[in-house]
Amino acid sequence: MYRGFSLRRAAQTDAMFLGDMLVEAANWRAGGVRPRHEVLTSAEHRRYLAGWKRSADDGLVATGEDDVPVGAAWYRVLPQNAPGFGFVGVAVPELIIGVHPLWRARGVGRTLLRGVVELAGSQGHSRISLSVERDNFARNLYRAEGFVVVGQGSARDTMVRATT
Ligand SMILES: CC(C)(COP(=O)(O)OP(=O)(O)OC[C@H]1O[C@@H](n2cnc3c(N)ncnc32)[C@H](O)[C@@H]1OP(=O)(O)O)[C@@H](O)C(=O)NCCC(=O)NCCS
Repeated sequence: MYRGFSLRRAAQTDAMFLGDMLVEAANWRAGGVRPRHEVLTSAEHRRYLAGWKRSADDGLVATGEDDVPVGAAWYRVLPQNAPGFGFVGVAVPELIIGVHPLWRARGVGRTLLRGVVELAGSQGHSRISLSVERDNFARNLYRAEGFVVVGQGSARDTMVRATT
């Protein structure tokens, strides 16, 4: 089936685009306008990308025509003393995903999600986690793809799924 996009492994040189997608994730709410530099330097978000690509980092980039990146999903193993929103345990990687606004609702996100879960499994991770604000529709996508809620904050859920 022609989908208009394909996936490739994320490289060190994708840091700039991953930064764009991190900003999309941080600004997911309609009207979200946190400036790029503010997101990428904030303590809560910079940990998902600073120093990319570390040895335990991995991910996928979706590309459209002419190999232009249109979305990305990646994971990072964060330490217990500096955990992410979706920390569930030492050595469990945490997922980040974003799709360029013009490419949403075309299957890119679901395809990236499936691919990155498989990638994590192939790299020896038995589980992968994420954090999502409860009113983000992405939560439904994660549930449909097998993620289950394992923790609840005031506005966020932590979700986990096995990679196999
Ligand atoms: C969440 C996100 C990655 C999903 O990517 P996507 O390419 O739009 O998703 P898909 O096209 O694969 O759609 C997945 C499902 O979500 C549904 N969906 C897509 N956009 C939707 C929207 N705006 N509202 C409600 N449902 C929507 C689709 O209908 C699809 O379900 P279906 O296959 O049963 O029809 C993307 O929308 C995004 O980057 N959002 C902003 C950043 C963000 O929220 N990141 C996650 C932070 S935890």
